Amino acid sequence: GAPVLVDTFGRTATDLRVSLTDRCNLRCSYCMPPEGLDWLPKPELLTDDEVVRLVGLAVGELGVTEVRYTGGEPLLRRGLPDIVRRTAELAPRPEISLTTNGIGLGRLAGPLADAGLDRVNVSLDTLDRATFKRLAHRDRFEDVLAGLEAARAAGLDPVKINAVLMRGINDQEAPALLRFCLEHGYRLRFIEQMPLDAQHGWTRDGMITADEILERLSAEFDLAPDAAHDRGSAPAETFVVGGGPETVGVIGSVTRPFCGACDRVRLTADGQVRNCLFATEESNLRDAMRAGAADEEIVERWRSAVRAKKAGHGIDDPSFLQPARPMSAIGG
Ligand code: GTP
Ligand code: 5AD
Ligand code: SF4
Repeated sequence: GAPVLVDTFGRTATDLRVSLTDRCNLRCSYCMPPEGLDWLPKPELLTDDEVVRLVGLAVGELGVTEVRYTGGEPLLRRGLPDIVRRTAELAPRPEISLTTNGIGLGRLAGPLADAGLDRVNVSLDTLDRATFKRLAHRDRFEDVLAGLEAARAAGLDPVKINAVLMRGINDQEAPALLRFCLEHGYRLRFIEQMPLDAQHGWTRDGMITADEILERLSAEFDLAPDAAHDRGSAPAETFVVGGGPETVGVIGSVTRPFCGACDRVRLTADGQVRNCLFATEESNLRDAMRAGAADEEIVERWRSAVRAKKAGHGIDDPSFLQPARPMSAIGG
């Protein structure tokens, strides 16, 4: 068959998201409880060499063109700059990006850019220090701001900001967040909360929908659909703000699903291929590797894992079940 990752609906996975750790130094309430989780034991994590081998196969043999490192919090992974450097040396060179909470980016943005990181997405849900602490259960607001500044100073472009709105906590802040991002040159996207929290506390009523987000923003900004750019497989629907050129994005994973155009495949920190955030099955590449599997066998396993991808996340199905792993262990 074709040397690419294709599923039975004809979608091709070219965007690989690699989780480098399930640990995090924040406790965002839409993700994990204040006490944290039972982290994966170190021996179960892929080593740096194993990560680079798998990313190398994805890029060299399977048609992957974009690699995103996520977590948990990927900046907690000691080997990250080295992993980025080795990824940047692969042929053909993939685009390399990072999704992070920004803590530690103040120190690491420069070294990561030097290593070959192309761009970064930083989570920031509030501009108020007290709200940050309430939401993330850690007093690290200033560190995130410092991280954002450092990312821009390091030349990472664009710097995107992800914001999840929660009813009664930060949902009044949507316009203020947009104003902040317009002023600082960050590209803001609002995200609908998904049922991926470890506490299983997600409810449809608690979720601020894409419609509501747009309504709140429209009270203060003039928004127009971004006709100039083809959305392609991007999860964010973009809107031009105040005549442009700035834009704001809305990621409506639940109420405006984009599964039909999905081009993603994931690798967890413990070496399991997941063909969807909401997949119920995984394919264990780590154990295959550790049992001595040749490249061809790993590549074949990876292709069958993607072939089995379902049409969509199924959140609206009566029989929907949240995946056993929370977002922090899947990779955001
Ligand atoms: P770029 O657009 O390339 O910058 O990446 P991205 O927006 O996909 O990356 P990021 O890691 O910042 O993800 C932002 C949000 O998109 C996440 O919080 C999710 O809500 C959503 N998202 C990412 N991947 C998936 C996916 O596979 N399925 C769904 N339904 N949502 C996803
Ligand atoms: N629903 C939607 N987005 C989430 N994130 C974490 N948990 C959830 C959830 N339950 C976001 C983070 C980060 C991105 C990778 O995923 O805010 O920006
Ligand atoms: Fe950490 Fe991201 Fe989860 Fe927040 S959402 S606790 S930053 S992994």
